Amino acid sequence: MKVLFVSAEVAPYSKAGGLADVAGSLPQAMASYAETIQVLTPLYGQIDVAQYHIKPTDVKGEILLGDEVIPYRIHQTSDPNSAVQIKFVSCDRFFQRNGIYTESNGEGFTDNNLRYFFFQLVALDLILSGKLQADLLHCNDHHTGLLPALILAHHLNVKTVFTIHNFLYHGHFSKAEAALLPKSILPYLSTTQWDNYSALLEGIDHSRIVTTVSPGYARELLEGVDIDSESHARIVAARGKFTGIVNGIDTNYWSPGIDPLIPHHFSSNDLHGKEQNKLALLSKTGLDPDLQAPLFGSISRLVENKGFPLIVELLDDFVELGAKFIFLGSGSPEIANQLRKASEKHPRHIAFDDRFNEPLAHLIEAGSDMFLMPSRFEPCGLNQLYSLRYGTIPVVNRTGGLGDTVEDWSQNSGTGFVFSPYDIKELRKAMIRAIKVYHLKPDWFNLMRRAMLKDFSWDQSAKQYFMLYTS
Ligand code: GLC
Repeated sequence: MKVLFVSAEVAPYSKAGGLADVAGSLPQAMASYAETIQVLTPLYGQIDVAQYHIKPTDVKGEILLGDEVIPYRIHQTSDPNSAVQIKFVSCDRFFQRNGIYTESNGEGFTDNNLRYFFFQLVALDLILSGKLQADLLHCNDHHTGLLPALILAHHLNVKTVFTIHNFLYHGHFSKAEAALLPKSILPYLSTTQWDNYSALLEGIDHSRIVTTVSPGYARELLEGVDIDSESHARIVAARGKFTGIVNGIDTNYWSPGIDPLIPHHFSSNDLHGKEQNKLALLSKTGLDPDLQAPLFGSISRLVENKGFPLIVELLDDFVELGAKFIFLGSGSPEIANQLRKASEKHPRHIAFDDRFNEPLAHLIEAGSDMFLMPSRFEPCGLNQLYSLRYGTIPVVNRTGGLGDTVEDWSQNSGTGFVFSPYDIKELRKAMIRAIKVYHLKPDWFNLMRRAMLKDFSWDQSAKQYFMLYTS
């Protein structure tokens, strides 16, 4: 079986969110199951081609978009540690920019739809021309949602899997934009109630199998939680090919015993390093070097659905509860402003950093006592999985993948603190419970060990994907 995995982001090359982590690690985990597995992604201007030894190949072509002919060239890495081949689509006009989806001020590029039309048409062209062989195309999110219909329109014998990482983003495009696509795809597309098209829904309609990134989120989508009735109807129509597989994590990269990005290593048998990391984290972020006070960490894009109305309302409570809070993430300027103000008001208790950096993310996972992730909804969520592995106890809303991967604490079981329904009262109660257990040392250490021993490697999930691929 020759698999082509197509994604708009692939870590470590380009990353805007969790999609990149999955695209960076799932194909690696699938490598032993497939004859070949290749990953196709755009070569954005910000990708460090020297660092990753990305070189141009002889494979090139031209894409007709509307009446414009736009050339592309395939680049490739030759990373000896990688079991999969990563191929990059280079095109100055669409990808030679610094951002992945947005300008530096956070505004989306106005031609995003065209950029991903082009990207998908390159994938199709590679297959059609035989420059790349694929029996199965694994598409991810709306940026690749038109590929299943393109495959059908060209009567290609290529099976398609479409994975939804987040139903919030549809990739809506107008009829005028659709007119730039190959004519043969148009009969396959269905307009939405806004008289435009949704690349996400097209992916669901036309792929052979639809997956989402946890069984819990699959259930919520099928039940229609928080989605409009039209989208829901299209999901329900896909019910028979719809399934949820929880994401795994790259356990070499996220591993407290060997992580090169943290100053002190530790394991479930020897937790000394964890306390030293906490001290390092407190001093790095300018908080009181007080090891007794519980330290909450959080890493997230600043968007409403990650639980911000609740987090913002809670900020003064950290001080009152004798806890500390470190937040890393960027996004909405308003939310950033509120976090910054709180950190200025309580400089010894709250720290906020909006300059994303990977070493700080690892130190937050390693040095915090608890990880705050009260998302309103969460398709899977990866940070709670990294947290569990680093003995950093997640405090989460019971939704989607969070509900599937974190089990509520009781004396002898559980790996975190789970609240429901999504409101400030319940979140505050969960935090107070967490703080109480934190001060009961034997219980807390047992909880940390249980969390660290959970297996969220890709092994199980890769097997499930393989079963789907073969089916
Ligand atoms: C999206 C989802 C997140 C998921 C990730 C990877 O970022 O919001 O929940 O873990 O994709 O699938």
